[in-house]
Amino acid sequence: MGKEKSSVLILYSTVDGHTKYICEYIENKLRKTKEIKLLPMENSHECNLDDFNEVVIGASVRYGYHRKNVYEFIDKNREALNSKKTAFFSLNLTARKEEKNTPETNPYIIKFLKKVNWEPNIKGVFAGRLDYPSLDCANKLAILFIMVITNGPKDISQVYELTDWSKVDELIKSIERL
Ligand SMILES: Cc1cc2nc3c(=O)[nH]c(=O)nc-3n(C[C@H](O)[C@H](O)[C@H](O)COP(=O)(O)O)c2cc1C
Repeated sequence: MGKEKSSVLILYSTVDGHTKYICEYIENKLRKTKEIKLLPMENSHECNLDDFNEVVIGASVRYGYHRKNVYEFIDKNREALNSKKTAFFSLNLTARKEEKNTPETNPYIIKFLKKVNWEPNIKGVFAGRLDYPSLDCANKLAILFIMVITNGPKDISQVYELTDWSKVDELIKSIERL
């Protein structure tokens, strides 16, 4: 008789879709060995955490913070999360810098995990995607300003995908070993 597959809930918090895209990539790779349910954080109430052995959360940063519903979800389910195998990754543009691209050096994931008082088994931080053409005028100007002062990509006619997929693959391998 074959071993029963471990069941994994993957929750993503996204505005422009890149966190979802990464979570779908993770889902596709993990589905060979695990039973997966993928949901946006907004719909997390649709599932019962008791049904899962593992929980993976991916969340992007906007103007300094992960979204409120990510804090709320962890706050509400901290005890259940602590009883499972868990992974969390943060997506932000600051992680494009080599000195800020690990869970130990990226200020957003450090600040976030401290604030929610939760220690996932696996942590990841990836550089995100900057799609200048699809941003509205105010956001485009704000991000351009930040990129000017932090020496980031500045051509507003371009889409910059800065994610290092080999790091995503490393996270997946760690989840497979959970
Ligand atoms: C309006 C806006 C604000 C952002 N604010 C930050 C920020 O404060 N720090 C940062 O490192 N990245 C910031 N980013 C970069 C996003 O985290 C990155 O684009 C990410 O890929 C977005 O993920 P999503 O598509 O899942 O929403 C911002 C992006 C936008 C469009």
